[in-house]
Amino acid sequence: MVTIHFLREQLDIDCPAGVILRDVALDAGIELYGLKGKLGNCGGCGQCSTCFVAVAGQDEDTCLTPRTAPEQRFLKKRPPNWRLACQAVIRNSLVVVTRPQMGWPGGDEALAAAVNAMPMNAVPSAKDSEPDDHKGPGQDDDGAEAGIESGEQD
Ligand code: FES
Repeated sequence: MVTIHFLREQLDIDCPAGVILRDVALDAGIELYGLKGKLGNCGGCGQCSTCFVAVAGQDEDTCLTPRTAPEQRFLKKRPPNWRLACQAVIRNSLVVVTRPQMGWPGGDEALAAAVNAMPMNAVPSAKDSEPDDHKGPGQDDDGAEAGIESGEQD
């Protein structure tokens, strides 16, 4: 589990890695959209660019998956830590500012303080994030081919 701290709302939400940030926010009842997005958003397809968030983490490069093509297009002129919540898959704990286009209490200092207040997180290794049943056919728990011992010859 990872923790998402929503700065504006002063709310911590625990969720598993691998889920979409928009889904976590909406499931928690967090208002993700400004007026334009409330009146009409694309439902998470990356087409309306109304689900802006600003994010920060102890390692911003690993908290979320990299920007997608729609984000590259819609966020060209936005700060590098802005994301479309519907496009961002959570990898590790982070701090999120909803509706950053409106600013937020305390500004960047509050964002940095929230990141510093987070418990230290270990970036999950590839092995940690793979389900146990993600073995290739005919492989045992060590990834070795079943039935073939080391050094065994025909
Ligand atoms: S909900 Fe439309 S771009 Fe994210």
